[in-house]
Amino acid sequence: MHVRAVAAATTAFMGATVLLLPTSAAHAAADAENPLVVAHRGASAYAPENTLAAVDKADEMGFAWVENDVQRTKDGRLVVLHDATLARTTDVEELYPDRAPWNVGDFTAAEIARLDAGSWFSTSYAGARVPTLEQYMRRVSRNHQKLVLEIKNPQLYPGIEQQTLKVLSNEGWLGPAHLRKLVIQSFSADTVRRVHELRPAVKTGFLGTPDIADLPEYATFADQINSSYTTISRSYVSAIHALEGPHGKPLEILTWTVNDADNARLVAGYGVDGIITNKPDVVREATLS
Ligand code: G3P
Ligand code: CA
Repeated sequence: MHVRAVAAATTAFMGATVLLLPTSAAHAAADAENPLVVAHRGASAYAPENTLAAVDKADEMGFAWVENDVQRTKDGRLVVLHDATLARTTDVEELYPDRAPWNVGDFTAAEIARLDAGSWFSTSYAGARVPTLEQYMRRVSRNHQKLVLEIKNPQLYPGIEQQTLKVLSNEGWLGPAHLRKLVIQSFSADTVRRVHELRPAVKTGFLGTPDIADLPEYATFADQINSSYTTISRSYVSAIHALEGPHGKPLEILTWTVNDADNARLVAGYGVDGIITNKPDVVREATLS
């Protein structure tokens, strides 16, 4: 058989093997992934983003790493949601028609718990809820998954860094076994720096593409520079890898949000450490070697 055909057959076999393995074994197989594949907002192409169903879907598909977003309610509870408003991913406009613009921070946790966060995606997910961070952490723990947790819109929620760390601590995620499974990231450099200062053992990521000249400063508080795939190049990835992060290991880069095979292969060729994707199956198949 031609070499390319052998490689394709091998890749197809390995993909099928991962799909057939129990999830714990599939997670172990995933540990050998290069680059790492991270299911964005859960497996969000296949289940409603930032719900327990989306992290379960990633688990069922054999993906250990998930990325999710945390924000704060009016009464000070942390919930898992991407947008600053509830309008796009829940039925909030139907339940609370007079509460525009439906900001997360204008609703209590009890009000948010009533919302349907699944029907917008598919009727088969009707009744899915916006999880609290505690509910979410328990599900990720149950699934033996690993977490890139984004502190979203921190400028709206003073003190969210400390509060998030407190929940993670309460849920047992700041002990040595879990620290290997956790990254906290943000678009706010101040937030990433704050997390690093509060809990230096926690691995952190800055979301963005700083100038190469500025990378040494970021490397004092961030272990990862996590950039849009549209903004990076082979030389940018090399510049990141040439530096050491705050834990004395090479600075890393996860890139987002790559949902097609061609771009997955492109950024894998750049040498990125991980790919954040709504379609983890597509990226895994494209990058298995
Ligand atoms: O993890 C990268 C990605 O989540 C950042 O963008 O807007 O999807 O949170 P966004
Ligand atoms: Ca995110």
